[in-house]
Amino acid sequence: MKQILLIEVSPRGKDSASRSVADTLAARLIGLYPSAKLIRRDLAAEHLPHLDDVTLRAISTKDPGEAERLKGAARQSDHLTDELLESDLLVIATPMWNFGIPSALKAWIDLVVRPGRTFRYGDGGVVGLAKDKKAILVLASGGVFTEGPWLPWDFVEPYLRQILGFIGIEDVQTVRAEGMNLPWLAAEVVPKANKAVEALAL
Ligand SMILES: Cc1cc2nc3c(=O)[nH]c(=O)nc-3n(C[C@H](O)[C@H](O)[C@H](O)COP(=O)(O)O)c2cc1C
Repeated sequence: MKQILLIEVSPRGKDSASRSVADTLAARLIGLYPSAKLIRRDLAAEHLPHLDDVTLRAISTKDPGEAERLKGAARQSDHLTDELLESDLLVIATPMWNFGIPSALKAWIDLVVRPGRTFRYGDGGVVGLAKDKKAILVLASGGVFTEGPWLPWDFVEPYLRQILGFIGIEDVQTVRAEGMNLPWLAAEVVPKANKAVEALAL
């Protein structure tokens, strides 16, 4: 393990369940892989831009002249994509917001899911180019989504698994901190998720 990329999304600092569980996971990873480089990318602190016309052209043009002219506009996306491609393990620690991912995480995804860099169109369909990587999702939510009536409302884990698979990351484990807003569960949510971290195959 040479590089671990930890994406943190919640703006709730020390109150954040996903960050707290991600800290436990990071400590375990550092213990197991002391020489690995751990990059923490804090999407709550760093406001990534939504894709605009120029950036979109800069990251998708096939014209080398245009690519050269627009390379400044592609720089941030290039950097984030290189960072992902150079990592062996991707950890995404995120809250559920309105049954999906926060737009800050979507902005990161829009900057790194790129034709020619992280996927390409082959004869038989799409080929993921982010090979030989694993991912761990640390997902915090107010309700419970792994079972019961709210299960179909979870647009976080299915989406993240789908988009990671699309770019070639198929080995994905999930740790849930679920039930944060349910008074009869809340106190146990983070301790239970921390135990699940200890049980992960890393
Ligand atoms: C803007 C917003 C939207 C939320 N939407 C949902 C939701 O759709 N479903 C849910 O179960 N919890 C929802 N919650 C609760 C959070 O998922 C919960 O507080 C979780 O602990 C947030 O993660 P964090 O503690 O890492 O910040 C929402 C919270 C906020 C602030």
